[in-house]
Amino acid sequence: MAPVPIQVFTQAATDAPAVRAALLDWYDAHGRTLAWRVGPGASRPDPYRVWLSEVMLQQTTTAHATPYFLAFTQRWPTVDDLAAAADSDVMAAWAGLGYYARARNLLACARAVSGEHGGVFPNTEVGLLALPGVGAYTAAAVAAIAFGRPANVVDGNVERVMARLFAVETPLPAARPELKRLAGSLVGDERPGDWAQALMDLGATVCRPGQPLCERCPLTAWCAGFQAGRPERYPLKSPKVQRPRRRGVAWVLRDARGRVALVRRPDKGLLGGMLGLPTSEWSSATIEGPPPAPADWRDAGAVEHVFTHFSLTLDVRSGEGGGDFVWTPVDEALAALPTVFRKALERGLG
Ligand code: ADE
Repeated sequence: MAPVPIQVFTQAATDAPAVRAALLDWYDAHGRTLAWRVGPGASRPDPYRVWLSEVMLQQTTTAHATPYFLAFTQRWPTVDDLAAAADSDVMAAWAGLGYYARARNLLACARAVSGEHGGVFPNTEVGLLALPGVGAYTAAAVAAIAFGRPANVVDGNVERVMARLFAVETPLPAARPELKRLAGSLVGDERPGDWAQALMDLGATVCRPGQPLCERCPLTAWCAGFQAGRPERYPLKSPKVQRPRRRGVAWVLRDARGRVALVRRPDKGLLGGMLGLPTSEWSSATIEGPPPAPADWRDAGAVEHVFTHFSLTLDVRSGEGGGDFVWTPVDEALAALPTVFRKALERGLG
């Protein structure tokens, strides 16, 4: 680790212009090259691409989201193209990104922009917030990055940077409003989109979860966590409540042509609107229930999947038969299914 020069520590809030200048300089030299970004000196990025990337990046890493972003923008290059797409095509293209309500909101928003705004995104935070499925984070991110508005863009990375910079002793999640206020105290008029992305890049690559790489950080002179010697303590977290465990059965039914039986899940609820395997109820007690069709069912083992609010064990049964299903070739099913069902299908195929 390079020696840290002797520094005079200052509170970041009282020195916001210098903090901004230091981080923007760092971003110019060390910001990441990502598919949805335009290079330095280029004109502003396309709001459609910014909005799409920000929706995809919620709860998803940049590495995981990038191939989806490239596939979507190749297939649907404008918001009007996306608005005109069939729901089932968009849901299938989203499979594997998780949080499927986002895909339904994505379509609702594209259709509102296309149908009610002539295909042009509103250029203010308030205007963006009025779009279906656009929350505070996305509105702020698009306003800053696509339209140069000085919006306060706060995601998990930014929260961590603020918690360390200001040595916030309140644990998450209660600290959220305070962290947002602190982030807001640093927002300025120069290069707001770069500022937002610089903070996110700093959080992802330097001020990372776990042990931060303070020797590479441009903000140590202002960082109260660094000054106190234990930046990794922040953000403090309230003790986790354990995720409840649920159990269910998934049936992998194949027909004589080797296709697999899928069902379209109801729009409301978990994995809503996505294709899925037929399953029993998922509950804390084991309720197997009747299989979806008569077959010589074989036990194919079990798969595990972790959702935000519970962990699931699915016992997988496989068999051959017929019935009223969405019969889908196996390779298409593997591409279009949410991860939990893809795992179960792979297990059922043996
Ligand atoms: N996470 C969410 N949005 C991001 C962006 N625009 N750049 C980097 N990381 C992000």
